This record gives sequence, structure tokens and C-alpha cells, in this order.
Amino acid sequence: METKVNVLDSNNLDENILKEVANVIRNKGLVAFPTETVYGLGANALEPEAVKKIFLAKGRPQDNPLIIHIYDLDQISSLARNIPEISRKFMDKFWPGPMTIILEKTDLVPEVTSAGLSTIGIRMPKSIIARAIIKESGVPIAAPSANISGRPSPTDMERCVEDLKGKVDYIVGGEISEVGLESTIIDCTVTPPCILRPGGITLDMLKEVDKDIYIDQSIMKKPEKDFKPKAPGMKYRHYAPKAPVKIVNGELRKTIVRINEMVEAYRNDGKKVGIMATEETKDQYENALIISVGTRKNMDSIGRNLFETLRTFDDNEVDVILSEAFEEKGFGIAIMNRLKKSAGFNVIDV
Ligand code: TXA
Ligand code: MG
Repeated sequence: METKVNVLDSNNLDENILKEVANVIRNKGLVAFPTETVYGLGANALEPEAVKKIFLAKGRPQDNPLIIHIYDLDQISSLARNIPEISRKFMDKFWPGPMTIILEKTDLVPEVTSAGLSTIGIRMPKSIIARAIIKESGVPIAAPSANISGRPSPTDMERCVEDLKGKVDYIVGGEISEVGLESTIIDCTVTPPCILRPGGITLDMLKEVDKDIYIDQSIMKKPEKDFKPKAPGMKYRHYAPKAPVKIVNGELRKTIVRINEMVEAYRNDGKKVGIMATEETKDQYENALIISVGTRKNMDSIGRNLFETLRTFDDNEVDVILSEAFEEKGFGIAIMNRLKKSAGFNVIDV
């Protein structure tokens, strides 16, 4: 398949490109496009034939439902029913933005989109480019992250091209995803509402709207054998680079000592090591490919660079990736959730 690639300028959107992209969506094609969380791989959410192509292009398991993207609140009434008051409060406060709400679906939403569930995830992204594409298409857009299933999600156009060129109709670039991690998912079909995936809208922020909201605890732990998470996607090995990831968790001084010891052991075995360090620690390692993922003074920088850093280790064909850990509070909860999943929950406490 021929994949067209084009870049949009969010300050000056090119109408011709927008029209071309919207046509692809309306004609049941696939378009990868930027959002503020990660890049999405979009299709008309209401066309089963179009949605099936998403699963094929990504190699995504059929039982993993998609999130529907809208640009206007008026679109919700045709997609969801029995919309609880509390979900309206979350929408008012955090949309457009990195938050997905799970609601009961209407019959208009095809089974493939919701993977057979009676509920559906809906998100109104903040990205100007994403919103313009949804608006111009005139239909709600189902979009998972624009990566091959299992790989770290793409946060820029080049990574989409790497994964999807030849498999989709169109790839649109124009911005680097500013959050860098996928949206916070809130199940609003239960009382109190429950966070199924932590993200840029943090638990503390959500508690200001509903003090009883909580994080589904199973998602921060290693999945049990017959673990059935409430967000089906959370059971798969995910966000994973090719090389195994090991997280060293503990006081920073001890972490540095342990990582340096591990580097020596791997080097004696002839292995090439990658270290995911931070601005504060990067100069304290040696004999490895050392990449700073961001500064501990600004957790947003770490979330933004996390997936791109994991992918850079793959580019350099390291045999193993050793990562520092981060405190599980605020945005750090989302960062550690993705990092632990990418490591298959391989955490070494020091
Ligand atoms: O930030 C995001 O949400 C990005 C961008 C593109 O918007 N999209 C994204 O989609 O992360 P995806 O498909 O990679 O992740 C969707 C997650 C999966 O874990 C899936 O199981 C869960 O949402 N999900 C979707 N519908 C659900 C539902 N009805 N009930 C529970 N979980 C659901
Ligand atoms: Mg994904």
C-alpha cells in the first residue's frame, strides 16, 4: 500500500491536506495523526470495515477495544447512553485533554470498535491538528496508539513512519506529543469512578472532582495468570522495546552504585548495555549507552521522552536496558505504570 506522508502546521492548517485526510477517513481508510498524548491510528469509528483495518495494520488482538475521538461534546449523545452526572464534571474540567471516559455505548457503535463490550471509551483530544482532522472528517474517529502492537507508542511522525509505512493510507505529522503517555482512562460506568489507566490527568487532579475516585490496583502489579483487567489492553506485554528492561528501584545513590555494578557484569558477558538515566545522574555512569530521559525536577519531561528513549535504545541495538525508577506520585504513577509494563515488572529493589 502507498502511504502518503504530510506535515501540518498547527498555527496555519493547510486546508488541502485536511480535506485529503478527511476524505481518506470517510472512504474507510487509515490515517496516523498527532495527539497531545501519543500519535493515533485513526479510522471512522462507525464503519466496521474501516475499524477492522486498524486491528490488521497494528497486529492488535481482536479483544482489545478502541477509544473514540471526538471534537465536540454534541457528538457524545449518539455514541453513549446513561451518561452519569459525574462524567460530565470530568469532561467539563479536563476536556479537551488527555482523558478518556468509559461509558455505556449505543447501538450505533459497532461491535468491532468496542471489541464486543457494551461500553466505549471516548476522548476529546486537545491537539489542534487532531481536532481539525476529526472536525473535517465529520465522523468520530477510533484511534489506538499508532504503533505496531506491543511496541512503545510513537510521539512523533518519524516513529509512525517506522512502524506503519506501507500499512496505512496516510501519516500526518506536525507536532511532538507533549504528554508522551496515553490518556488517563476513567470508568464512569461504576460508582465511584475507577481509573483503569493512569495518564496526564492525575489521580490528585481527578480527586478534586470526585474525592472517591481510585486507581484499579491490579494495573500497577504484575498480572496474575488468569488476570482479567477492566481495560482489556492492560493485560498485554506493552510499551516494550526489543531489549529487556530492568528497573532499579531505591535511594538514588544506591541505584547508581547498583546500575554501575550491573553494567560491569553485563560487559564481562560481552553485552551492550543501555542506561536510562536522568539529567541529575547521567554523569555518574560509564561504559554504556547513557541516555537522559529528562529531569527529576520536571516529571513532565520524563513522561514526554519515555517512549522515544526506549525506542532510541532499540535503534542502537543494546542487549539490555537498565532504568532508574521514579516516585509513584502525581504524573510519576503513569510513568512507572508504563515503565514497569515495558520491563515486564522486572524491578530490582536496592
Ligand atoms: O491517549 C490515548 O488514549 C491514545 C491516543 C491516540 O488518543 N490512544 C490509546 O489507545 O492509547 P490504545 O488503543 O493504545 O489504548 C486504549 C486502551 C486499551 O488498554 C483498551 O483496553 C482500553 O483503552 N479501553 C478501550 N475501550 C475500553 C472499554 N470500553 N472498557 C475498558 N477499557 C477500554
Ligand atoms: Mg496502545
